[in-house]
Formats: sequence, structure tokens, C-alpha cells
Amino acid sequence: MKSTVNQLMCSYYKANSKKGLYTAVGLSLLLFFNNLSAQNHTVAQRVDSLMKLMTLDEKIGQLNQYSSSWATGPVSPEGNKLQEIREGKVGSLLNVKGVDKTRAMQEIALQSRLRIPLLFGLDVIHGYKTIFPIPLAEAASWDMNAIETSARIAAVETAASGIHWTFAPMVDIARDARWGRVMEGAGEDTYLGCAIARTRVKGFQGKGLGATDAVMACVKHFAAYGAAIGGRDYNSVDMSDCSLWEVYLPPFKAALDAGAATFMNSFNDLNGIPATGNSYLQRDILKGKWGFQGFVVSDWGSIGEMIQHGYVKDQYEAAQAAISAGSDMDMESRCYNRNLKQLVRDGKVSVSLINDAARRILTKKFELGLFDDPFRFSISEREIQTIADTEHRIQARDVARKSIVLLKNENGLLPLAPSKKIALIGPLAKSKVDMLGFWNVEWPDNSDVISPFEGLEARVGKGNLLYAKGCDITDTSKVGFSEAVNVARKADVVILTVGEKRDMSGEAKSRSNIHLPGIQEELIKAIYTTGKPVIVLVNAGRPLIFNWTAEHVSSIVYTWWLGSEAGNAMADVLFGDYNPSGKLPMTFPASEGQIPIYYNYLNTGRPASDDGSFANYQSGYIDLAKSPRYPFGFGLSYTSFLYDGLKLSSEHMKSNEKIEVSFSLTNTGKYAGDEVVQLYFRDQVASVVRPVKELKDFQKIHLDSGEHKTVHFTIDKEKLSFYNRKLEWVAEPGQFDLMIGASSADIRLKSTFVLE
Ligand code: BGC
Repeated sequence: MKSTVNQLMCSYYKANSKKGLYTAVGLSLLLFFNNLSAQNHTVAQRVDSLMKLMTLDEKIGQLNQYSSSWATGPVSPEGNKLQEIREGKVGSLLNVKGVDKTRAMQEIALQSRLRIPLLFGLDVIHGYKTIFPIPLAEAASWDMNAIETSARIAAVETAASGIHWTFAPMVDIARDARWGRVMEGAGEDTYLGCAIARTRVKGFQGKGLGATDAVMACVKHFAAYGAAIGGRDYNSVDMSDCSLWEVYLPPFKAALDAGAATFMNSFNDLNGIPATGNSYLQRDILKGKWGFQGFVVSDWGSIGEMIQHGYVKDQYEAAQAAISAGSDMDMESRCYNRNLKQLVRDGKVSVSLINDAARRILTKKFELGLFDDPFRFSISEREIQTIADTEHRIQARDVARKSIVLLKNENGLLPLAPSKKIALIGPLAKSKVDMLGFWNVEWPDNSDVISPFEGLEARVGKGNLLYAKGCDITDTSKVGFSEAVNVARKADVVILTVGEKRDMSGEAKSRSNIHLPGIQEELIKAIYTTGKPVIVLVNAGRPLIFNWTAEHVSSIVYTWWLGSEAGNAMADVLFGDYNPSGKLPMTFPASEGQIPIYYNYLNTGRPASDDGSFANYQSGYIDLAKSPRYPFGFGLSYTSFLYDGLKLSSEHMKSNEKIEVSFSLTNTGKYAGDEVVQLYFRDQVASVVRPVKELKDFQKIHLDSGEHKTVHFTIDKEKLSFYNRKLEWVAEPGQFDLMIGASSADIRLKSTFVLE
């Protein structure tokens, strides 16, 4: 039977490959021989039928993923990858991009005995060709439409380039700004993180797998990777069950509920067990309790790295531990393709584990339609048209300006009148690549990125913008200062662009010192002494510390890494074409010594007061206030908002009831603007102590000058629930504080209610 199938399939493909065609009809022949056509049968039946034809080697091949030479981790050079693809020993490739390259690789895969198409994956973290703001910046928009648009456009461009799968969203909660990967997530808060996780999955997967403009999402890094001790990337995680379940796992669950097709596990160990070999995480929680039907890919080499962890002694044991724990696909460690067959022969791994993993992977290939047409994502004309779509740039500009956070604007210096003589000074003023930030898909040419200089010059007119660099980002020399000071003296107002290089935050980019790098703050001081009004723009991938600037400079704008349209988005905000509306998704520390710092901490039995004062025997520091430089949820606007008229439909609720909350929000300033109103609760007494404040809802509301709206929130049992000591999700009766604010520290309305 096998050889008949093989012969018939081969003759079919030969005939069609001469014409350069691999069509839907061609591959469904495989199913025809099993009497299972695509039209009449479910994906599960089609997978079963294919599985019956597969040898153990071919099944193990599906579990194997290699990178192209463009690597995002240490590649093992050994072996002939192309030959292995031809032999059906590779199920997926990462880092192959573009229609031509994916098509070429797919053609090789289709020379294998069963012609199972490859899956192509890539880290499309914040855009493919059109680069959007880094995820942390987008999180600052608190704008789910904007975030969905960004993910959607990324998916459209990625899918048009022959790629089926993005390794995003990263949903790791992060409370330590020293960790370089904070740039890749949604910040410190679980509620906001869940909303963003859902939104990104929706954006990437669009109308669902099978649409040629959708890519599979890969939710990562499962789990608790963001809590690496000391903020050091890849470090161990030591965590209570309550924190794991309540703070770190919910965004994964939210992404799963939104239909995420795949998960990636993580490099860290969790309480001594590497995540990749962690059955509790992958089998008990993800595939068990949560019923995840997709597949789990290991993080890069993480199966083999269990040897360095000291969890297994060699690759043989690593493969056994990973497959047993539920890691379905091996990214670049080769442990599976070298050892799984022997493990089966030795009776250490049951074939059913391999069948299950292979079935999960093949299911996604069927759902993507790759068995109907393996080239359906690889169409040159579509790629060219999609990549050139100018609408994508318009959207990127809009998302970028929504991601900007106004931190300070004393004396109303902003928005600027374009008629002013402006000097743009600083190491990032003319930078393009640093606007993109870490994790952009590398292109040979970044000339289409709008630098701050180009964005501002486009607004004030060519030749009207003065410029000096002052220093480099990591400089120790002040030779450029005098020129910068001279230029500043000629201007009415100075805009300084300072911050991080594109590779100072990101994977493996943990920093112990998160002050503005180099002598940039010295440059700010030098310009400040000219007496000219100064606006500082901070471009960075994480919260930075710049205390002198925060205290002295009258206007500060946090511009993160905003992507392709960075300069235009900055100009929009600086000149008031867009009124800034971003709010910080992470607490900004005043000193590294406060880290980890986050707004939803537990009160302790000896709380220090919030105003920074400290008495002996209190939980604080004798040499540092415990309050942050900028709190979670903080961000200013050119207008002002009045919160008043708080009403609760009742001050009591039973667990099956709801309380309706309403208040009036008025734009009392002279500009139209958006306000992110934030709802926090505190459960006053509980069987497991509760944080001083927890975000439980928010809305972003647009109001014209003078306009007001009634804002509504609903309180239900779900919002009041937490994990008790037995890890049961419960809402305990008692009194709750309700707080509505413009940030976690700027509470405008308060009340209490009782859950009976
Ligand atoms: C990262 C992942 C990424 C993978 C593939 C790893 O080093 O941790 O987030 O998806 O490489 O590039």
C-alpha cells in the first residue's frame, strides 16, 4: 500500500513540478488515496489519514525545527539541513523570509516521500516591513483598536511574504525594568496584559487560520519568564503558586481563549524545574486544565539547555524530559531528531507521545490550508503589493502617536507653535535604526524610517530646523557640547532627543544601570544652562531613570522606540496635531534600588507612607523613598479632565449580583483629547492578603473641549475574585475600596461597597 501511494504521488508531483505547479488538487491526492477528500472530511480525519502513512522517522521529523542562517540564537552548524528537509526530517523552519526563499524551501520539502509542507515561523514582534512601536510602547496607548490594527497589518505583511507563523505575542508580565525584554511585552499589569494578549492574538490570526492574510500566533514564554531573578535574562524564577496563577498565568489563558494556535515555552526554570521539561506547566495546566489543542514549540535550544540547567545529563535525557512534559516541537536543539527514535526503541518514550505531538503540528498545517496548496502564502505579486501598501504607514504613524506618553509639561510649553525657531539636539535626532528598536525584521535598507529630524523638519519646513548632535548615546567625550550649546542659543526652544540604542533593550540585553546611557544627561544640563526652554524626548525600550531631567526640565515626552513613522508621530504630538493620551504600562523607578517596583504591591504589616517619608521600623529604605518616579497608569494631556458625580447602583452586592458604577468625565481644557480612566479595587480583608490596589477595568474616552460623558463600569464577582490558598478562584465576602483615577497614584473618585 505504502509503495503504491508513494508511486502514485510521485508521478503526480513529477508531472506538475514540470509545469512549476503544486496545486490544491495535487496534495489532496494524498488524502484521496485514503479515501478522504478535503471536502468531505474534518481536519482530524485528514490528519489521521496522513498519520497512518507516516513512519516514526517522518513523525519525529515534524517535531523538528531549524533556523536559516539568519539566526536569533546560537545555531548548531552541523548537518545538512537541506538534505534533512528533503528526507522529511524537518517540520518547520524559522527565520526564512520572503516569497522567493519560502517557496524555494517548500519546493525542497515537497521532494520528501509524503510531501508534507513546511511551516515557516518568524519573530514578527512589532511589524514586518512596516515597523510599529515596540509592544511596551503600544501598551502605553491602552488602545485596543490601535494594538489590533498593528498586529493585523503585521500579519498581512508577514503572510504575504510566505510566512505562516509569528512568535508573538510575548505576554510575560514584567516588574523589573532591568530585564531587557520588558520592551517586548505589555508591562507590569495582569489586567491590561490580558486585554492586550487577547487583542494581539485577534490581530495576528484575523478571521482565523486558513485565511491567507492571517498568521498563527505563538504565545510566549510559557511561563513566568518575566520574573527572572535580578532582571537577568534567562535567569531562574522562584515564585509562589498565588503569584504564578494570579499575576503571570492569566495573560496566557486570555491569549488561549482568544484562539491562539501555538505556545512557546521558556528558557527559565520555575522553582527548580526548567519550563521546557515542566509537566506541571505544559501538561497539567496548558494541555490539561486549559484544554489547549494547538502545539508547543520549545524556545531556541531550550531542550538541550536542560543539560546546563542540571536537570538532565545529556541530549537523550533532555529529549525524553521535553517530550514527556509536552514540548511538541524542538527549536534548533536537535535533541528530538537525534534521540526520539532511540528513546522509543528503548521503551523510554511511548509512540503515543510522538503521535500526539505530530498530530498537533499537522493539524495546524491542515488548518492553514498548506495541504491544499503549500504555496498559498507565497505569491510574488501579492508580496510586492502588500509590502508597498502606503496605508500601513498611515496606521503606523497613528499607532505611534497614540503610544507616546507626556510625562511633564510645566508652563504649557507644549504644544509648540511651528513658527518658533527650534533646535533639535541629541544623539538620536538623525537616527533611523534606533527608532525601530529591538526585534525588527532586518532589512538591508532603513532609509524609509522617519527620523525625529525628518519628522520635525517636515512640519516646520525645510531649512527651518537647527541641529547639533552633542554626543553619541554611549559617549564619554563632551567635545560636541560647545557646538550644541551654540546651536541652542540661536533657537527659541530646544528639543533634545536622548535615550537608548536599538539593541540596549531586548533579548539578552539586561542592564544593571538603567539611567540614561553615557553623558546624555550631562548634555541636557549643558543645554539647560543656556536658559532656553527645553523639551526632552526619551527614546528607549524600557523605563529609564533620569532624575535630574525629571526635576529640572519643564517638558518631558517618553517616545520609546516608535518604529517606521517615529519622527512624524513625534512631530504630531509636539505641535499638537495629536494630543498625547498614552499612560505608562510600567512603573518608572527613581532608582534601581527600588526594583522590583510595581503599583499592586502588598501593604505589609509596617507600611511606609506614600509621600516618601520614612519612619524607623517601616517597610521602606533609609536612604530612598519607596515611591516611584512615575507611577503605573500615569500620563498627561494638553487638556485637563474633571472626574465627578460618582454613583454606585448599590453599596451591597450578592455574589450573583452586579453593581453599576457611573461618573461624569469632563474635558475642562481647551484641546480635544483622550483620557484613560482606570478602575481599581482593594479587597480590604481576605484569606490571602490582597494588593493595595488592582486594576480591574479601564476605558479610553475621547472628549472635545468642554464636552462631558457619563462613564459606566460594572462590578461583578469575577472582578472581585482571586486565588485562595487552595488555588480556588473565589470572591470572599467583605468590604472593598473602589478607586477611579487618572493613574494608579492619581485617584480622583473613591467609594466602598460590600460583597455579601
Ligand atoms: C527567543 C524567542 C524567539 C526565538 C526565535 C529565542 O531566543 O527567546 O522569543 O521567538 O529565539 O527567534
